[in-house]
Amino acid sequence: MLSDTLTRPTEGMRAAMASAVVGDDVFGEDPTVRELEQRVAGLLGHEDGLFTPTGSMANQLGIRLHVKPGEELVADSLAHVLRAEMGAAAVLSGISSRSWVGPHGLLDAAQPLALMIPDGGAYQVNTRLVVVENTHNFGGGTVQPLEQIEALRSGTRERGVALHLDGARLWNAHVATGVALETYGRLFDTVSVCLSKGLGAPVGSVLVGSAEQMAEARIWRKRFGGGMRQVGILAAAGLWALDHHVERLADDHARARRFAEAAAEAAPGSIDPTRVETNIVILDVSVAGWTSADFVAAAAERGVRLYAVSGTAVRLVWHLDVDDAGTDLAVTELVPLLAKGPQ
Ligand SMILES: Cc1ncc(COP(=O)(O)O)c(C=O)c1O
Repeated sequence: MLSDTLTRPTEGMRAAMASAVVGDDVFGEDPTVRELEQRVAGLLGHEDGLFTPTGSMANQLGIRLHVKPGEELVADSLAHVLRAEMGAAAVLSGISSRSWVGPHGLLDAAQPLALMIPDGGAYQVNTRLVVVENTHNFGGGTVQPLEQIEALRSGTRERGVALHLDGARLWNAHVATGVALETYGRLFDTVSVCLSKGLGAPVGSVLVGSAEQMAEARIWRKRFGGGMRQVGILAAAGLWALDHHVERLADDHARARRFAEAAAEAAPGSIDPTRVETNIVILDVSVAGWTSADFVAAAAERGVRLYAVSGTAVRLVWHLDVDDAGTDLAVTELVPLLAKGPQ
């Protein structure tokens, strides 16, 4: 339950990888990679796509397309691009960042619209991009409200600011709400999606946008050291995941909610289960007197690996390799432990 990046490829996925038709992708000659890029672009309502080794690289390429050195992006303070990409926008692209604070990463369009300064002239740093994360990882799998994204889209368009979606878990948002991937996708200039989280591929993300943007991103990908060769083997895992592992995300969501309901009943205040919309649960363990480090250690002794997101909160993530039995184990081992507090 440490992360949905822990999944291992299924037998079917391995077989698809083994039989993939491949070529040198730096020369644009890997047909399986092209199939994946075009399929994901089509799903998200964009012209073209670009396969990348990681979600971080897909985000950083998207950011690089919209923002020049010395300009800025804005994102919420818990955003993966700000908290967990190791300062890449600053280090690799000379981009500065500012943030707004949203509860649980939930988007309120008024906040970025008030924060951005696209017309700073020669005095203030000019905002060129707003980044939205959907679902929101450190927010606890939060699904962004469509009407807020729409309001942000019209506000940014009016002032000439671009919009990038970090959609590492957009699949989860789509399954949780029934909103079409294309409906989400068309509201952004560029979108990154991950195949290696809940979808269960070992590696891979895709950035989508216009054909012109993807041609430029291809150059930057090579510059960032992400030009890969016979990676149809990996793209085949992504295609398999799209065919077999999207709809089943609903099972992850139901299991996460079941755990959250049990935790809320035994330790009131640790979680609001109605906020558990997808596959992530962030528990406030301090309500029962735990520090997150002590709770993570106690859970590990009981066979459940967790991640401390702060000094008081831990994250549990459901995925392909956590079934009903794994959820039962979490409920029977962790819920009483949480309620009892440290001894
Ligand atoms: C919201 C979000 N965006 C981007 C990424 C980056 O993905 P990667 O680990 O493949 O770089 C992650 C990884 O956990 C994530 O949660």
